[in-house]
Amino acid sequence: MCNLTHFNAPSAAEDRAADWPVRFARIDGDDAFLRIAVLDTSCLTAGAISSMLSSLDEQKMSVAASIRSVLHRNDFIAAHFLLRRVLEDSFGIPCRLWSFGATETGRPTVVCPAMMSRLRVSLSHTRGLVAVGIARGYEVGVDVESTSTDATRLDISDRFFAPDEAAYLRRLDPAVALNDFTVLWTLKEAFAKAIGKGFGQAFHSFSFALSGPPGITFLDPALGDPEVWRFWRASVGRFHVALAYAPDDKAAPAAPVEVLWC
Ligand SMILES: CC(C)(COP(=O)(O)OP(=O)(O)OC[C@H]1O[C@@H](n2cnc3c(N)ncnc32)[C@H](O)[C@@H]1OP(=O)(O)O)[C@@H](O)C(=O)NCCC(=O)NCCS
Repeated sequence: MCNLTHFNAPSAAEDRAADWPVRFARIDGDDAFLRIAVLDTSCLTAGAISSMLSSLDEQKMSVAASIRSVLHRNDFIAAHFLLRRVLEDSFGIPCRLWSFGATETGRPTVVCPAMMSRLRVSLSHTRGLVAVGIARGYEVGVDVESTSTDATRLDISDRFFAPDEAAYLRRLDPAVALNDFTVLWTLKEAFAKAIGKGFGQAFHSFSFALSGPPGITFLDPALGDPEVWRFWRASVGRFHVALAYAPDDKAAPAAPVEVLWC
Protein backbone atom coordinates (compact mmCIF):
# COMPACT_ATOMS: atom_id res chain seq x y z
CA MET A 1 0.00 0.00 0.00
CA CYS A 2 1.37 3.42 -0.91
CA ASN A 3 0.71 6.59 0.99
CA LEU A 4 1.09 9.17 -1.75
CA THR A 5 1.17 12.85 -0.88
CA HIS A 6 2.12 15.81 -3.04
CA PHE A 7 3.78 19.01 -1.90
CA ASN A 8 4.59 22.13 -3.87
CA ALA A 9 8.16 23.40 -3.98
CA PRO A 10 8.70 26.39 -1.69
CA SER A 11 8.80 29.91 -3.12
CA ALA A 12 11.92 32.05 -2.87
CA ALA A 13 10.50 33.64 0.28
CA GLU A 14 10.36 30.20 1.90
CA ASP A 15 13.80 29.04 0.92
CA ARG A 16 15.19 28.52 4.43
CA ALA A 17 15.48 24.75 4.30
CA ALA A 18 15.26 24.45 8.07
CA ASP A 19 11.85 26.14 7.99
CA TRP A 20 10.29 23.74 5.54
CA PRO A 21 7.20 22.09 6.94
CA VAL A 22 7.50 18.69 8.58
CA ARG A 23 6.53 16.14 5.99
CA PHE A 24 6.75 12.65 7.40
CA ALA A 25 5.04 11.89 10.69
CA ARG A 26 7.21 11.09 13.71
CA ILE A 27 8.10 7.41 14.21
CA ASP A 28 7.64 6.08 17.73
CA GLY A 29 8.63 2.62 18.89
CA ASP A 30 10.79 0.01 17.22
CA ASP A 31 8.50 -1.31 14.51
CA ALA A 32 9.80 -1.94 11.01
CA PHE A 33 9.10 0.88 8.55
CA LEU A 34 9.98 1.96 5.04
CA ARG A 35 9.92 5.55 3.75
CA ILE A 36 11.00 7.12 0.49
CA ALA A 37 11.06 10.82 -0.40
CA VAL A 38 11.55 12.25 -3.90
CA LEU A 39 12.50 15.90 -4.46
CA ASP A 40 12.31 17.88 -7.72
CA THR A 41 15.47 20.02 -7.59
CA SER A 42 14.81 22.00 -10.77
CA CYS A 43 13.08 24.89 -9.00
CA LEU A 44 15.25 25.15 -5.90
CA THR A 45 16.58 28.67 -5.39
CA ALA A 46 20.22 29.45 -4.67
CA GLY A 47 19.08 30.45 -1.18
CA ALA A 48 17.46 27.06 -0.59
CA ILE A 49 20.59 25.24 -1.77
CA SER A 50 22.74 27.40 0.49
CA SER A 51 20.48 26.66 3.45
CA MET A 52 20.50 22.94 2.65
CA LEU A 53 24.30 22.98 2.48
CA SER A 54 24.48 24.49 5.96
CA SER A 55 22.68 21.46 7.39
CA LEU A 56 25.32 19.00 6.14
CA ASP A 57 28.34 17.80 8.10
CA GLU A 58 31.85 18.96 7.19
CA GLN A 59 32.72 15.84 5.23
CA LYS A 60 29.70 16.21 2.92
CA MET A 61 30.30 19.98 2.62
CA SER A 62 33.81 19.22 1.50
CA VAL A 63 32.62 16.64 -1.08
CA ALA A 64 30.05 19.18 -2.33
CA ALA A 65 32.76 21.84 -2.67
CA SER A 66 34.79 19.47 -4.86
CA ILE A 67 31.99 19.00 -7.41
CA ARG A 68 32.63 21.37 -10.31
CA SER A 69 29.28 21.19 -12.08
CA VAL A 70 26.85 23.53 -10.29
CA LEU A 71 23.83 21.44 -11.23
CA HIS A 72 25.48 18.21 -10.11
CA ARG A 73 26.64 19.91 -6.89
CA ASN A 74 23.14 21.21 -6.18
CA ASP A 75 21.64 17.74 -6.67
CA PHE A 76 24.28 16.24 -4.35
CA ILE A 77 23.51 18.85 -1.67
CA ALA A 78 19.74 18.41 -2.08
CA ALA A 79 19.97 14.62 -1.79
CA HIS A 80 22.08 14.69 1.36
CA PHE A 81 19.89 17.42 2.86
CA LEU A 82 16.74 15.44 2.02
CA LEU A 83 18.13 12.35 3.76
CA ARG A 84 18.81 14.36 6.91
CA ARG A 85 15.48 16.15 6.73
CA VAL A 86 13.53 12.90 6.38
CA LEU A 87 15.42 11.52 9.37
CA GLU A 88 14.76 14.73 11.35
CA ASP A 89 11.07 14.54 10.55
CA SER A 90 10.95 10.86 11.46
CA PHE A 91 12.90 10.95 14.73
CA GLY A 92 12.96 14.59 15.86
CA ILE A 93 16.77 14.68 15.76
CA PRO A 94 18.03 17.82 13.95
CA CYS A 95 19.71 17.50 10.55
CA ARG A 96 23.11 18.69 11.82
CA LEU A 97 23.33 15.85 14.37
CA TRP A 98 23.25 13.11 11.72
CA SER A 99 26.43 11.86 10.10
CA PHE A 100 27.08 8.98 7.75
CA GLY A 101 29.83 6.59 6.77
CA ALA A 102 30.02 3.95 4.07
CA THR A 103 30.84 0.27 3.77
CA GLU A 104 33.87 -0.67 1.72
CA THR A 105 31.62 -1.10 -1.31
CA GLY A 106 30.13 2.38 -0.82
CA ARG A 107 26.77 1.64 0.83
CA PRO A 108 25.87 4.56 3.14
CA THR A 109 25.57 3.83 6.86
CA VAL A 110 24.36 5.92 9.80
CA VAL A 111 27.25 6.82 12.12
CA CYS A 112 25.62 9.45 14.37
CA PRO A 113 23.49 9.33 16.40
CA ALA A 114 24.98 5.93 17.27
CA MET A 115 21.65 4.68 18.60
CA MET A 116 20.30 5.02 15.04
CA SER A 117 23.06 2.95 13.43
CA ARG A 118 20.69 0.06 12.69
CA LEU A 119 18.69 2.21 10.29
CA ARG A 120 19.21 1.49 6.59
CA VAL A 121 19.48 4.44 4.23
CA SER A 122 19.83 4.81 0.48
CA LEU A 123 20.03 7.80 -1.82
CA SER A 124 20.21 8.67 -5.48
CA HIS A 125 20.70 11.86 -7.48
CA THR A 126 20.24 12.60 -11.12
CA ARG A 127 20.08 15.96 -12.89
CA GLY A 128 16.85 17.57 -11.60
CA LEU A 129 15.60 14.85 -9.23
CA VAL A 130 16.85 13.20 -6.04
CA ALA A 131 15.43 10.44 -3.85
CA VAL A 132 16.20 8.95 -0.46
CA GLY A 133 14.96 5.86 1.34
CA ILE A 134 15.12 5.11 5.04
CA ALA A 135 14.08 1.87 6.70
CA ARG A 136 14.20 -0.26 9.81
CA GLY A 137 13.83 -4.02 9.43
CA TYR A 138 14.32 -3.84 5.67
CA GLU A 139 17.16 -3.76 3.23
CA VAL A 140 16.52 -0.76 1.02
CA GLY A 141 17.84 0.69 -2.23
CA VAL A 142 16.58 3.65 -4.31
CA ASP A 143 17.48 4.91 -7.74
CA VAL A 144 16.37 7.81 -9.93
CA GLU A 145 17.24 8.37 -13.58
CA SER A 146 15.90 10.40 -16.49
CA THR A 147 15.22 8.82 -19.86
CA SER A 148 18.11 9.28 -22.22
CA THR A 149 17.55 10.33 -25.83
CA ASP A 150 20.76 8.58 -26.85
CA ALA A 151 19.84 5.38 -28.70
CA THR A 152 23.35 3.99 -28.18
CA ARG A 153 22.34 3.48 -24.54
CA LEU A 154 20.58 0.34 -25.77
CA ASP A 155 23.99 -1.15 -26.57
CA ILE A 156 24.56 -1.13 -22.81
CA SER A 157 21.68 -3.54 -22.34
CA ASP A 158 23.16 -5.91 -24.94
CA ARG A 159 26.44 -5.95 -23.03
CA PHE A 160 25.39 -5.71 -19.40
CA PHE A 161 21.74 -6.75 -18.94
CA ALA A 162 20.38 -10.29 -18.64
CA PRO A 163 19.72 -11.88 -22.06
CA ASP A 164 15.90 -11.77 -21.69
CA GLU A 165 15.99 -8.07 -20.75
CA ALA A 166 18.18 -7.22 -23.75
CA ALA A 167 15.97 -9.27 -26.08
CA TYR A 168 12.84 -7.56 -24.69
CA LEU A 169 14.30 -4.09 -25.36
CA ARG A 170 15.42 -5.03 -28.89
CA ARG A 171 11.82 -5.98 -29.78
CA LEU A 172 10.50 -2.49 -28.90
CA ASP A 173 10.18 0.67 -30.94
CA PRO A 174 13.40 2.67 -30.20
CA ALA A 175 11.61 5.49 -28.29
CA VAL A 176 9.76 3.00 -26.08
CA ALA A 177 12.92 0.96 -25.71
CA LEU A 178 14.82 3.94 -24.29
CA ASN A 179 12.04 4.52 -21.77
CA ASP A 180 11.94 0.86 -20.72
CA PHE A 181 15.72 0.65 -20.66
CA THR A 182 15.69 3.42 -18.07
CA VAL A 183 12.93 1.75 -16.06
CA LEU A 184 14.93 -1.49 -16.01
CA TRP A 185 18.09 0.41 -15.14
CA THR A 186 16.51 2.09 -12.09
CA LEU A 187 15.14 -1.24 -10.84
CA LYS A 188 18.51 -2.91 -11.33
CA GLU A 189 20.42 -0.14 -9.59
CA ALA A 190 17.92 0.01 -6.73
CA PHE A 191 18.38 -3.74 -6.20
CA ALA A 192 22.19 -3.51 -6.50
CA LYS A 193 22.16 -0.78 -3.84
CA ALA A 194 19.76 -2.69 -1.57
CA ILE A 195 22.20 -5.61 -1.45
CA GLY A 196 25.01 -3.12 -0.83
CA LYS A 197 27.09 -4.09 -3.87
CA GLY A 198 26.33 -1.42 -6.43
CA PHE A 199 28.09 -2.12 -9.70
CA GLY A 200 30.04 -4.85 -7.86
CA GLN A 201 27.03 -7.07 -8.62
CA ALA A 202 27.01 -7.98 -12.33
CA PHE A 203 23.85 -6.54 -13.87
CA HIS A 204 23.35 -9.65 -16.04
CA SER A 205 23.12 -11.84 -12.92
CA PHE A 206 19.50 -10.83 -12.20
CA SER A 207 16.59 -9.92 -14.40
CA PHE A 208 13.34 -7.95 -14.31
CA ALA A 209 10.20 -8.41 -16.38
CA LEU A 210 8.09 -5.31 -17.01
CA SER A 211 4.91 -7.10 -18.11
CA GLY A 212 3.26 -6.79 -14.65
CA PRO A 213 4.32 -5.48 -11.23
CA PRO A 214 8.13 -5.64 -11.22
CA GLY A 215 9.44 -9.02 -10.11
CA ILE A 216 13.01 -10.27 -10.05
CA THR A 217 14.62 -13.50 -11.29
CA PHE A 218 18.09 -14.50 -10.15
CA LEU A 219 20.53 -16.01 -12.63
CA ASP A 220 23.18 -16.16 -9.90
CA PRO A 221 22.11 -18.65 -7.17
CA ALA A 222 24.36 -16.86 -4.67
CA LEU A 223 21.78 -14.04 -4.62
CA GLY A 224 19.48 -16.25 -2.54
CA ASP A 225 15.70 -16.26 -2.56
CA PRO A 226 14.13 -13.83 -5.07
CA GLU A 227 10.74 -14.20 -3.40
CA VAL A 228 11.74 -11.99 -0.45
CA TRP A 229 12.30 -8.99 -2.72
CA ARG A 230 9.68 -6.33 -3.36
CA PHE A 231 9.81 -3.36 -5.71
CA TRP A 232 8.00 -0.08 -6.14
CA ARG A 233 8.45 2.19 -9.10
CA ALA A 234 6.98 5.38 -10.56
CA SER A 235 7.55 7.55 -13.60
CA VAL A 236 7.00 11.33 -13.68
CA GLY A 237 7.60 12.78 -17.14
CA ARG A 238 11.10 11.73 -18.20
CA PHE A 239 12.07 10.73 -14.65
CA HIS A 240 11.90 7.23 -13.22
CA VAL A 241 12.14 6.26 -9.56
CA ALA A 242 12.63 2.72 -8.23
CA LEU A 243 12.74 1.23 -4.76
CA ALA A 244 13.94 -2.29 -3.88
CA TYR A 245 13.31 -3.69 -0.41
CA ALA A 246 13.38 -6.96 1.48
CA PRO A 247 12.37 -7.68 5.08
CA ASP A 248 14.87 -9.03 7.62
CA ASP A 249 12.05 -11.17 9.01
CA LYS A 250 10.17 -12.88 6.18
CA ALA A 251 7.37 -13.92 8.52
CA ALA A 252 6.62 -10.41 9.86
CA PRO A 253 3.64 -8.52 8.44
CA ALA A 254 4.73 -6.19 5.65
CA ALA A 255 5.08 -2.51 6.58
CA PRO A 256 3.43 -0.05 4.19
CA VAL A 257 5.76 1.85 1.88
CA GLU A 258 5.31 5.57 2.58
CA VAL A 259 6.15 7.70 -0.45
CA LEU A 260 6.46 11.48 -0.28
CA TRP A 261 6.80 13.70 -3.35
CA CYS A 262 8.40 17.00 -2.36
C1 LIG B 1 25.92 3.05 -6.38
C2 LIG B 1 26.09 2.91 -7.86
C3 LIG B 1 25.57 1.55 -8.30
C4 LIG B 1 25.23 3.91 -8.64
O1 LIG B 1 25.66 5.17 -8.63
P1 LIG B 1 25.15 6.31 -9.61
O2 LIG B 1 24.07 5.87 -10.54
O3 LIG B 1 26.34 6.88 -10.23
O4 LIG B 1 24.57 7.37 -8.63
P2 LIG B 1 23.27 7.46 -7.71
O5 LIG B 1 23.10 8.89 -7.48
O6 LIG B 1 22.09 6.71 -8.21
O7 LIG B 1 23.71 6.73 -6.37
C5 LIG B 1 24.84 7.19 -5.70
C6 LIG B 1 24.67 6.87 -4.24
O8 LIG B 1 24.61 5.46 -4.07
C7 LIG B 1 25.15 5.16 -2.79
N1 LIG B 1 26.02 4.01 -2.96
C8 LIG B 1 27.28 3.99 -3.47
N2 LIG B 1 27.73 2.71 -3.45
C9 LIG B 1 26.74 1.95 -2.93
C10 LIG B 1 26.64 0.57 -2.64
N3 LIG B 1 27.63 -0.29 -2.87
N4 LIG B 1 25.49 0.10 -2.11
C11 LIG B 1 24.47 0.95 -1.85
N5 LIG B 1 24.53 2.28 -2.09
C12 LIG B 1 25.65 2.76 -2.63
C13 LIG B 1 25.84 6.39 -2.26
O9 LIG B 1 25.04 6.94 -1.25
C14 LIG B 1 25.87 7.31 -3.45
O10 LIG B 1 25.63 8.67 -3.16
P3 LIG B 1 26.75 9.62 -2.53
O11 LIG B 1 28.04 9.28 -3.19
O12 LIG B 1 26.26 11.00 -2.80
O13 LIG B 1 26.73 9.29 -1.06
C15 LIG B 1 27.58 3.05 -8.23
O14 LIG B 1 28.03 4.35 -8.00
C16 LIG B 1 28.47 2.09 -7.47
O15 LIG B 1 28.41 0.88 -7.63
N6 LIG B 1 29.34 2.62 -6.62
C17 LIG B 1 30.21 1.81 -5.81
C18 LIG B 1 31.46 1.47 -6.59
C19 LIG B 1 32.44 0.86 -5.70
O16 LIG B 1 32.96 1.48 -4.82
N7 LIG B 1 32.72 -0.40 -5.94
C20 LIG B 1 33.67 -1.07 -5.13
C21 LIG B 1 33.96 -2.42 -5.68
S1 LIG B 1 32.51 -3.43 -5.56
